[in-house]
Amino acid sequence: MTHTVNVQRRHLILGGAAAATASLVPMPSFAADPVKVGLIVPMSGPFASTGKQIAAAVSLYQKKYGDTVAGRKIEVILKDDGGVAPDMTKRIAQELVTRDGVQILAGFGLTPLAFAASPIATQAKTPMVVMAAATSVIVKRSPYIVRTGFTLPQVTAPMADWATKNNIKSAITFVADYGPGIDAEKVFVKQFTAGGGSVMHSIRTPLLNPDYAPFLKRVKDSKPEALFVFVPSGEGAALIKQFNERGLAAEGIRLICTGDVLDDDLMVSIGAVSKGVVSSHHYSAAHPSPENKEYVASFARDNNGMRPNFHSVGGYDGMHLIYEALKKTNGDANGDKILAAMKGASWTSVRGPMTIDAETRDVIQDIYIRKSEEVDGQMWNVEFDKVVQFKDPGV
Ligand code: PHB
Repeated sequence: MTHTVNVQRRHLILGGAAAATASLVPMPSFAADPVKVGLIVPMSGPFASTGKQIAAAVSLYQKKYGDTVAGRKIEVILKDDGGVAPDMTKRIAQELVTRDGVQILAGFGLTPLAFAASPIATQAKTPMVVMAAATSVIVKRSPYIVRTGFTLPQVTAPMADWATKNNIKSAITFVADYGPGIDAEKVFVKQFTAGGGSVMHSIRTPLLNPDYAPFLKRVKDSKPEALFVFVPSGEGAALIKQFNERGLAAEGIRLICTGDVLDDDLMVSIGAVSKGVVSSHHYSAAHPSPENKEYVASFARDNNGMRPNFHSVGGYDGMHLIYEALKKTNGDANGDKILAAMKGASWTSVRGPMTIDAETRDVIQDIYIRKSEEVDGQMWNVEFDKVVQFKDPGV
């Protein structure tokens, strides 16, 4: 993986100002050239854990399966977009396509960043593999988008069903106030209400620098049976700490959440306060398959003991999809051919079986219900039930 721009040969001369205004004509590529994958993720800023997890997974994939497919070298160009500025992500995507000649865009840590890059994918006819961002509508923003992560409606609906089946009658929803949070809120309210539950309030918290205290006080005063939470990867430790410190657990309010909150990357630092919390997600590092055991061990070996999280798996499977598509096209990196090869692909991921829906280009996968438990002295999300091959239900 190269971290800096490395233009090997320039097929289209787009210098300086011309590059900024030129229409997005992807460079032609030749069989002897590498296939370039532009990986745009936050490696710095508040969501740096997402970029680090994905970059580590992409490296691990190439270490395990090599860096050549169908006779072509796969060159990954890693770019840090800082995670908070859509204009920056868009500019990086544009430069990668016009200046560096990438044939595939990948990554995208947050929904607004995926939205920002989507017109570039459309104009340049460049496949865009969304590995992390999880608002339902993302795949509709460009016919060149394919998603290997998950969607919030996909993981939220099973959580709401589990809650009503387990006699939880009243709940408050508590979400980060942007795309995926609003998806989670809408789907939880719809599904929980359909199952006979009642939602007392819907609370939205700021995405950046949230102070959860006033919102949690409101929850405590309202005394719901359960608090349903979505906050993006990286935020869960602060939320769970405050949930306990502010006495909500002691009040008997049950925390239920999507797996973003009990992010495997954070489970060790969250510690025993998460014990017993039930959540729903498409990946747990505790998934008991041989493929996953090997993945968790190799990931830890190469990354100072770090536990892989669900975003890493979106990255690992994104690379798998790119490799398999190139095998099918026999190394032809034409955008339309790659996209056609990606549609309908199915494989056994470390998360379990998954398919890229040929019509929607979104991911179909098992969604697991998990409970946080101590195993061998550490907290893990132990899966105990699942909804098989579940498609994004939309909002
Ligand atoms: C998103 O912005 O789409 C997003 C980010 C982090 C998550 C889930 C969704 O954990």
